[in-house]
Amino acid sequence: MNDIQILGKIPLYGEMAAQGSKNAVLPMMAASLLHRGTTTLLNVPCIQDVDCMVGILRKLGAKVYREGREMQIDASCLDSCEISLDYVQKMRSSIMVLGPLVARLGQAVTHYPGGCSIGKRPVDYHVKLLRDLGITVKEEGDRIEAKADHCHGCELRLCFPSVGATENAVMAAAGAEGETVIRNCAREPEIVELCRFLECMGIETKGAGTDTICLRGQKSKNDPVYRVCGDRIAAGTYLAAAAVTGGHIRITDVPVYYMEATLRALRACGCQIMTENDCIHLSAPRNLTAIPYLETEVYPGFPTDMQSVLLTVLCCGIGESRLRETIFEGRFETAAELLRMGADITVKDNCAVVKGGAGLSGSTVRARDLRGGAALIVAGLAAKGWTVVKDCGHVDRGYEDIADNLRKLGAEVRRVGTKTKEESRAVG
Ligand code: EPZ
Repeated sequence: MNDIQILGKIPLYGEMAAQGSKNAVLPMMAASLLHRGTTTLLNVPCIQDVDCMVGILRKLGAKVYREGREMQIDASCLDSCEISLDYVQKMRSSIMVLGPLVARLGQAVTHYPGGCSIGKRPVDYHVKLLRDLGITVKEEGDRIEAKADHCHGCELRLCFPSVGATENAVMAAAGAEGETVIRNCAREPEIVELCRFLECMGIETKGAGTDTICLRGQKSKNDPVYRVCGDRIAAGTYLAAAAVTGGHIRITDVPVYYMEATLRALRACGCQIMTENDCIHLSAPRNLTAIPYLETEVYPGFPTDMQSVLLTVLCCGIGESRLRETIFEGRFETAAELLRMGADITVKDNCAVVKGGAGLSGSTVRARDLRGGAALIVAGLAAKGWTVVKDCGHVDRGYEDIADNLRKLGAEVRRVGTKTKEESRAVG
């Protein structure tokens, strides 16, 4: 059992530093396989998905050392090309190990990944990109085997700007002979961070952050040392927590330039937000207001990972809001849990109509996925009375010490029937 109990209606005050970005560090850890040497990553968040990726790298033969939020990965010698099924089933991001591994070893084996239940989440874009690069990919049951007999640079085109498929293509192309051009690629900040990290390794890329990335296959030259940027989604979650409790908080070490759409949405709900360098200060209004219409989009649009949390905020905003999910087909599961807290939400054709302002009441609810679980914790902070959010193991995959962080901002939050921090992060 890994539940969190929250007593609502306590305004949050204070300051916190944003954790390192989960979605930036995971591809960097995978990309460390491209380097026959030591990679050092700083500001690595202490979360379960990182533990899982450490497990994958160690099973491949890499040596991984961690001291707090500093990590060293020595991938000089790898002794396996098979990504461990134990970890693949725990984490969707395991698929992004395929590209760098086949680039490094010429072959790689994995399985269809597990991960959040926010939609079907196939990996067909990944498979197609690898095949377009001349990599032979065999799919037997849920087993995927890749062989780079004739891996050559070429012009790739994504049918959708998939974040993970773009990352996989960039890392696989690093191992291809000649130049690769990737068109219609994702523009998310995590792609920019990955390409900056590759450049630290001596692998040049051009166009990161645009819809076309070019790179020439080459061996890494240097032992990279790279500081992971702040997590824009975790930071947005804590800002939302302050917004629904009528609080005032300051978050430091945040990539403000990557958070425009999130800040725009919170301002639209009536929050006062000031930014300076890498800090964000949010003051909540007495009453939050509705947002007539907003839809999730690929970057730089409103991020799908903030959708569940914003749904909670809109439940507290006076008036009718409409929030459409355009990236994943199953990302409104949390609405059913919010209804148990008295929310008025109707979901049709992947669009939620929220009649907010009547207030939420504490209840026992269940986290169905990572961001949905975080949204329920935020709802607990806004609700009258006590809320128990069950299955917070989902949340621990991506949020570092969420209960401790909220307590430090004045919340009445505690873990119930909890394993120790080490146990709850232990990867089987
Ligand atoms: C990354 O997932 C993030 N995960 C997700 O964050 C994020 O929601 C998503 O990008 C979109 O921004 C990590 O970075 C580890 P996609 P990814 O490929 O790469 C479909 C979180 O909460 N698709 O951009 O898996 C897919 O089903 C997580 O931190 C295919 O159809 O997302 C979805 O509908 C959740 N075939 C859409 O594309 C494929 O081969 C976008 O997915 C790949 C994707």
